[in-house]
Amino acid sequence: MSNSASSADHVVRTTPLYDRVKSVIPAIEWPAFAEDIDVILRLKRERDTVILAHNYQTPEIFHCVADIVGDSLALAREATKTDAGMIVLAGVHFMAETAKLLNPAKRVLIPDLRAGCSLAESITAADVRLLRERYPGVPIVTYVNTSAAVKAESDICCTSGNARKVVESLGVPKVVMLPDEYLAQNVARETGVEIVTWAGHCEVHERFSAKDVRQLRAGHPGVVVLAHPECPPDVVAEADFAGSTAAMIDYVAERQPPRVVLMTECSMSDNVAVQHPNVEFIRPCNLCPHMKRITLANIRRSLETLTHEVTVDPTVAAPARRAVERMLAI
Ligand code: 13P
Ligand code: SF4
Repeated sequence: MSNSASSADHVVRTTPLYDRVKSVIPAIEWPAFAEDIDVILRLKRERDTVILAHNYQTPEIFHCVADIVGDSLALAREATKTDAGMIVLAGVHFMAETAKLLNPAKRVLIPDLRAGCSLAESITAADVRLLRERYPGVPIVTYVNTSAAVKAESDICCTSGNARKVVESLGVPKVVMLPDEYLAQNVARETGVEIVTWAGHCEVHERFSAKDVRQLRAGHPGVVVLAHPECPPDVVAEADFAGSTAAMIDYVAERQPPRVVLMTECSMSDNVAVQHPNVEFIRPCNLCPHMKRITLANIRRSLETLTHEVTVDPTVAAPARRAVERMLAI
């Protein structure tokens, strides 16, 4: 493929991809995406690269350039399986760090180093050490939405997709669960295990309220409400189902509700709607500003310039990897 291809060439070559997303991307916008997509696909081949994309990435990333898509758990698992020499993580920094922990010999890139997470920002390794002193002998379960340094101080990690299983696997009456207070409260209710929480919140999910759920039900009769467990417990209590982003996608795929609302980040509905044209999606929209830092333009730049490489200090990496691998073994 020549680097001097015209805009029309890019559009022609990417037309089959546009067909996948035409229900959520207006035709007039496609020429603005086509060149970056065309170049990204070429660079991926030339650079033996796999793109892992979280379910919150926008449809032109999720459906057109990603090789593997999923929730945090799936991305961590898939990161252990890829044969590619390089990984570009279209998601947030902790996801790239997790991919690096599991692939120390591979180059892991994130297109924008500022793609953080309010949960990861809410706690430090020193905080975890203090909790360990305060609750001696109580296992510390850490959500993957944390830095490698925080994981390194923990006994085991969890994601929203396996939090209940991880807590139950410990077989103890009390655990410390960090840093998402709402996820911890939701898991405590499901398991009956006493959970010491931390006051971290997801800035996207904490904005949903039980009143929103009631208003959605009143305005859209028959709507099925699916909530992410990072939502406050009263939202989860009023929802029909709570689960990770992947669990919500599976719910829609298996049950095909005529009308559904996903109480989670905006792009999820677009991505899932593409595959389920018979399902009506009601879309209250809360954007994750960190996920939205990743764009086609900076994925392309990442592949062109091999930036930004994510590294983890080896002294932190070893214990952090142990906590993630212990989770993956469950
Ligand atoms: P999952 O995709 O693992 O459910 O996580 C949601 C999330 O907020 C990731 O940042
Ligand atoms: Fe973090 Fe929430 Fe954004 Fe996920 S949606 S990356 S938990 S701020």
